[in-house]
Amino acid sequence: MSKAAIILAAGQGTRMKSATPKVLHKVAGLPLLGHVIAALKGAGVDRVVVVTSTAGDAVRAYAKSAGADTAIQDQQLGTGHAAACAREALAGFDGTLLVVNGDMPLITADTISECLKAQERTGLALLAFEAADPGAYGRVLMTPEGYLDRIVEFKDANEEERATAFCNAGCYAADAGKFFGWAAALKNDNAQKEYYLTDVPALAKQDGVQCAVAITDELSVTGVNSRAELAEAERKFQTRMRARLLADGVTMTAPETVFFAHDTQIENDVEIEPFVVFAGGVTVKNGARLRSHSHLEGATVASGAIIGPFARLRPGAEIGENAHIGNFVEVKNTKIGAGAKANHLTYLGDATVGEGANIGAGTITCNYDGFTKAHTEIGAGAFIGSNTALVAPVKVGHGAVTAAGSVITDDVCPDALAIARGVQTEKPGWAKAFRERKKSEKK
Ligand code: UD1
Ligand code: MG
Repeated sequence: MSKAAIILAAGQGTRMKSATPKVLHKVAGLPLLGHVIAALKGAGVDRVVVVTSTAGDAVRAYAKSAGADTAIQDQQLGTGHAAACAREALAGFDGTLLVVNGDMPLITADTISECLKAQERTGLALLAFEAADPGAYGRVLMTPEGYLDRIVEFKDANEEERATAFCNAGCYAADAGKFFGWAAALKNDNAQKEYYLTDVPALAKQDGVQCAVAITDELSVTGVNSRAELAEAERKFQTRMRARLLADGVTMTAPETVFFAHDTQIENDVEIEPFVVFAGGVTVKNGARLRSHSHLEGATVASGAIIGPFARLRPGAEIGENAHIGNFVEVKNTKIGAGAKANHLTYLGDATVGEGANIGAGTITCNYDGFTKAHTEIGAGAFIGSNTALVAPVKVGHGAVTAAGSVITDDVCPDALAIARGVQTEKPGWAKAFRERKKSEKK
């Protein structure tokens, strides 16, 4: 059976108090919406429609970039009304339909699959969970037979209903044709005067379709409605990621101080010291060591390499096997060959560094003239003396040496020495004579 999904993302997200739409706020560097799309695709959903408001240009652009279609809900009349707005975008689809809130960044493909499995039992299912603090979630009331009796929204619930901690996660599965029939019949006679998606099961029951309930863990269905909940979702995401990596054989002595991006890839036997931060697009191969206070983004680190402490790898940094990138070294769009070393106080941008080259402290690739970027090539086994400025475009041949303090503007031949600095002169006794003169002047 083919599967499609509607993601609800037209709400104003007023509780975020933000000019950015709620679903574009990020957890682990990926918009909330991106997490939901990824989980759906992982569960085998091949068509995704994101429902946005008329003002949702940025949400539509993001959805398209993530491979989803979009539909517009021109007035925010509630979650049920929002889902119905996707009807046209899904015209002709007659498989199983998922409807998912767009504000659940911890949802996984497994969780969605649980909902799909429950749907096969009766034709309609939702995800529910026991909440530690049920707050304003809709409350799930069950029949003695173990089906859903009804969902009551927090604002409509009485004391007794609010006392239950069994909550609606905001993920539903149904036969597409039937679902749109029920959604069209929703009424808005409730505290918020909204068309609630949560009333669909009651309409289904009138049609003789029971709603099955798949119970999931609270973690994966955490909703984000405020900045505090966004921070909490980030915390939970990081906790889950750290646990997964530890289980996969990554060493972290203080995992609670290490922060990952949604797509960080780390192989086993990598060692990560405290206070390392990953932005998106990082891959680290086995046996590499990431030392304290390093920041990595868009970089790959090969086996056995050592990064940091206090190193910064920016997009396009490719660090070769057993290479060393030390303290206060920044690497951007640069390939570092196997066994090469840049151990201190260096900027390598738009460069290639050959195998086994040694980059002295204070080396700078002068890659930018204010308008365009230029490339620096450093050959295998070259030795770049401390405080060398390499004015790109420039090539240093393999095995060549640049003298400390040189400003290299011309290519250097393989195995040559290039010296480009003022020549030292010496005045014997000058310093002593200077001091004596000054002392006598002072008297
Ligand atoms: C909703 C559920 C609640 C559940 C909770 C789980 C309803 C009525 N309530 O409440 O039972 O426990 O999610 O997180 O469904 N949206 C639209 N158009 C609208 C209104 C909302 O697209 O007119 C979208 C929002 O952008 C959001 C999603 O629907 O992504 C859920 O809306 P939200 O306002 O967050 O609902 P909750 O109050 O969290
Ligand atoms: Mg919500």
